[in-house]
Amino acid sequence: MKSTVTKTFGILTAGGDCPGLNAAIRGVCRPAYDRYGMEIIGISNGYRGLVENYTRLLHPEDFWGILTRGGTILGTSREKPFKSRSKDADRKLGEDKVAAIKENYRILGLDCLVVLGGNGTNTTGWLLSQEGLNVVGLPKTIDNDIVGTDYSFGFDSALAIATEAIDRLHSTAQSHSRVMVIELMGHKAGWLALYAGVAGGGDVILLPELPYDINVIARHLEERAQKGKSFSIVVVAEGAVSKEESLMDKKERKRRRQEEGSPSIAYRVAGEIERTTGMETRATVLGYTQRGGIPSASDRVLATSLGAAAAELLAEGRYGRMVCLNGSEVCSVSLETPAEKIKTVPRDHYMIDTAVAVGACMGI
Ligand code: F6P
Repeated sequence: MKSTVTKTFGILTAGGDCPGLNAAIRGVCRPAYDRYGMEIIGISNGYRGLVENYTRLLHPEDFWGILTRGGTILGTSREKPFKSRSKDADRKLGEDKVAAIKENYRILGLDCLVVLGGNGTNTTGWLLSQEGLNVVGLPKTIDNDIVGTDYSFGFDSALAIATEAIDRLHSTAQSHSRVMVIELMGHKAGWLALYAGVAGGGDVILLPELPYDINVIARHLEERAQKGKSFSIVVVAEGAVSKEESLMDKKERKRRRQEEGSPSIAYRVAGEIERTTGMETRATVLGYTQRGGIPSASDRVLATSLGAAAAELLAEGRYGRMVCLNGSEVCSVSLETPAEKIKTVPRDHYMIDTAVAVGACMGI
């Protein structure tokens, strides 16, 4: 066995699941166990499992044969122990949860906590490291919106699923001469819609970062029709907003949407297109299929590499860091880097130019 600073660590997955989580768990645990002989405590259901001490000792059989499995063998939750600290009424509850985490970390005899998750998970990891815990983070999310890494695992798999869905919509859109609106995940960041829109040849691509003008979209669709293109594909991120909505606060926007009665943005945009252009339009919401199933080859490679890099940080005792991909290099950044931030699509991102260069309308 090689020498290691970390003897025992806990591992959890938090936030929304995604393909590649199990590959990353395996990526951390195999070298940690085989090379360094570390003891591994699996924590169930994200941070909730650490609050409630819902844990088990992991054996090699637990992390064998999981490379290709979707979801997470550890379970997950959206528990954010620090969140309730910000509201007065829940302040006590938040403090109790953080105290419970610190106490369970001590009882379990952990030298470090490994957290696999998105912005929220790594933010909590940073806050816990401020409380004196040793934490190492891994970036996962289909939204690819984590500051400090070029890509998070889960994104490539979701991109493949979304692109296939757009491909499939093409043939039915063409047969019926319709406009097809497809809604992809991404509340605050439109990476998935942008990449899938380009990969699937979307004619209109709407992102949360670029509030859309329905008249611009309508003009684009009418011009396409005039050129003899009998159908169009509109790719919309779930967090996309119109220009008018972008001027409203969150509450007002929510109230307006409720009054309209559209179940989600795809239906709203489809309705607007039909009313403005008279073109027959249908909406599809891809939903959770984007997060389900086996990871793509590329996500398996990324998750495994990030996992193995995290095991090295554990061995060296380099805590308070998140492993990341920088260009083609796997490295790490301080956990402070992703904390309380979201990596949105910059207006001058080359992929927006690319989309426009090949004829897509960004709704602006
Ligand atoms: O994991 C991020 C994400 O996929 C978002 O794009 C989406 O809005 C969200 O999860 C929804 O997940 P849930 O319903 O599990 O909270």
